[in-house]
Amino acid sequence: MKKENTPGFFGGLTSYGDEGFSCFLRKVFLSSMGYDDVDLSRPLIGIADTSSGYVTCHREMPQLIEAIKRGILQSGGLPVVFPTASLPEIMMNPTSMYLRNLMAMETEELIRSQPMDGVVLVGGCDKTVPAQLMAGISAGIPFMQVVAGPMIPGRWQGQKVGACTDCRAAWSDYRGGRINESQINEVGAVLAPSGGTCTVMGTASTMACISETLGFAIAGSSTAAAPTGERLVIGAKTGRAIVQAVIDKRTPDKILSRGSFLNAATVLGAIGGSTNAIVHLLAIARRAKIEFTIDDIAEASASVPVLVNCKPSGTGYMDDFHADGGVPQLLHQISANIDLNSLTMTGQSWEDILKEIAVRVPSGAGIKELSKPVSPKGGLRVLRGNLAPDGAVIKVSAATSSLLNHEGEAVVFESLEDLMERIDDPNLKVTADSVLVLKNAGPYASGMPEAGALPIPKKLAQAGVRDMVRISDARMSGTAFGTVVLHISPEAAIGGPLAIVKDGDRIKLDVENNQLELLVSESEIANRLKSHKRSSSLPDTSWGSIFKATVLQASEGADIDTTGLRG
Ligand code: FES
Repeated sequence: MKKENTPGFFGGLTSYGDEGFSCFLRKVFLSSMGYDDVDLSRPLIGIADTSSGYVTCHREMPQLIEAIKRGILQSGGLPVVFPTASLPEIMMNPTSMYLRNLMAMETEELIRSQPMDGVVLVGGCDKTVPAQLMAGISAGIPFMQVVAGPMIPGRWQGQKVGACTDCRAAWSDYRGGRINESQINEVGAVLAPSGGTCTVMGTASTMACISETLGFAIAGSSTAAAPTGERLVIGAKTGRAIVQAVIDKRTPDKILSRGSFLNAATVLGAIGGSTNAIVHLLAIARRAKIEFTIDDIAEASASVPVLVNCKPSGTGYMDDFHADGGVPQLLHQISANIDLNSLTMTGQSWEDILKEIAVRVPSGAGIKELSKPVSPKGGLRVLRGNLAPDGAVIKVSAATSSLLNHEGEAVVFESLEDLMERIDDPNLKVTADSVLVLKNAGPYASGMPEAGALPIPKKLAQAGVRDMVRISDARMSGTAFGTVVLHISPEAAIGGPLAIVKDGDRIKLDVENNQLELLVSESEIANRLKSHKRSSSLPDTSWGSIFKATVLQASEGADIDTTGLRG
């Protein structure tokens, strides 16, 4: 029999104080699975399954997992599937972000505590991908990731439509009276016509591209649609690749470098990716113990133009990006800004991979040529100023250019509840020039929900106003658009200056100079802050208590900081 710390089912033995008995007992139970010595001599590959009836985006996962198993078996490995937490973006209260760190912790512990030589992490919906990357890096064994893949777009009134930029546009049209109830129901029925993740460059697609760029997913894999045979081929290829990574003892620390993360931030800029990826990338880099800051992300993402023509920055969908060659063709376009020596879990560097993929002239539907970008500079900016001493972010490529330098009077909402109660009040004192301010929606206050794209007050929406400057410590869905300042750090609930903004205060947004300023004297700000009290609306459950005691600010990735908890 194999001994502790050797590969396979006989690694990481259950502690009975008798190693021989631990091995014997394990073999007794493994025989009930029909495993014999041939099976038990193979590299053991775990497959983390995030199928869930609540995660509609993962509907195609069972057949994808069968394909991964097939690839593992073909390469001489033994696949073993195990369930983990799964986070359905639009089903969770108060927000899936509150559970990202819990899923990362659970997945890491399941990888660590169960015997496996390598693992394939199968995710897709927004927070599942970063949670798995955080977990895989912390667990430290060879791992690869396969995403569910984007859903296919639907059609309405002769136009392609898809979750979920078009969900927001349709809802905004309905609120503004531009479409009626029958039409909103009609379009609602075709916005998500298949399994798979949102079909625009939302957080799921952005994180899939980032996983691929970091080297954890097969090249070209992040964009293939969920219901296609191509996605199953990707599953089988990954199964074969993870067995080789185990044989080669290729652990995440052997492939990750500062260059890998700068590449990911550069791709984030070129795809016009989700602002959520900033928080996730910071958390992932922190797990990898690699020096990487919010300013690195801003600089790298601004070093390239937005070339991927997906909504919300562009006009297309993920199938357009895929048809133009996906991430590898994008990397060809921006190769001058990419560290091509960065390694992937296949053992190849990006330079090796790109040499095998001929450069194509992009059609423009999915990827634009460098000379005709969607936007001349990467879509994300970091703002600082007396309202955001540790930073705030704005997605310029999804904003209205005439609002990027704007001064207006604050209309303040103290909480999400306050926002819901008053935003459509016909007596709300607001004009199109006002700056809508939402407080207490940061990590500590409420788990950092995607509430930053505050709805345009109904009376203004009905008068044709489509965008306004909105600022908060919340996040925003990657599928959303507008002139929206997010992730203000420190957040209001822990005493960030956002906490003391009052109705009528003037706020200046100056994106050209990366500034966000409250036009109130420093002495008045200090005076108002004296009476501020720390508060959170998160539950006092076991996880809620751990989360509130340990969560970091958005500018640090909003991971839990367990430093002070270690015995
Ligand atoms: Fe799952 Fe958009 S809701 S990816």
